[in-house]
Amino acid sequence: MTRITVTVDGTTHEDEVEPRLLLVRYLRDRLGLTGTKIGCETGDCGSCTVDLDGMSVKSCLVLAVQADRREVTTAQGLVRDGELHPLQQSFHDHHALQCGYCTSGMVMAARDLLRRNPDPSTQEVRNGLKGNLCRCTGYQNIVAAVLAAASGRDADAGTVPRFDRLP
Ligand code: FES
Ligand code: FES
Repeated sequence: MTRITVTVDGTTHEDEVEPRLLLVRYLRDRLGLTGTKIGCETGDCGSCTVDLDGMSVKSCLVLAVQADRREVTTAQGLVRDGELHPLQQSFHDHHALQCGYCTSGMVMAARDLLRRNPDPSTQEVRNGLKGNLCRCTGYQNIVAAVLAAASGRDADAGTVPRFDRLP
């Protein structure tokens, strides 16, 4: 067993883990953060996507010990004081989910994309999310939700602050 100290969604955890334990398993099974999903466990579907020290990673391809002394943010951690993150709100407003299994991974991948490119084209959004699969194939609304969050438009054409000015 190996001792790790990991900050997840703002809370620091100290744990003994097996060196082979996957980060996604640690998040779900040890910490109970089941908002991060497991789909393929082979790095293909993106449903396990989280942020590790500011970089989007597929947490089924990362060992828990590799997160030692690092900071993980999950989709659950994006909710602040009961308020959805603008991307989560945009997914809701644009009906960008059906079964919802891919959603937390999509949101985390989209967040990473918009941090690097706050004003993407439709094609850039599609390219940026190509590592994330939606089994329900609702890509059209997912792309619309990401573009709307980027431009600061909500589904009712009201305005919200631009994504790049938000946490
Ligand atoms: S579960 Fe990690 S990429 Fe599919
Ligand atoms: S909404 Fe069902 S997998 Fe994407």
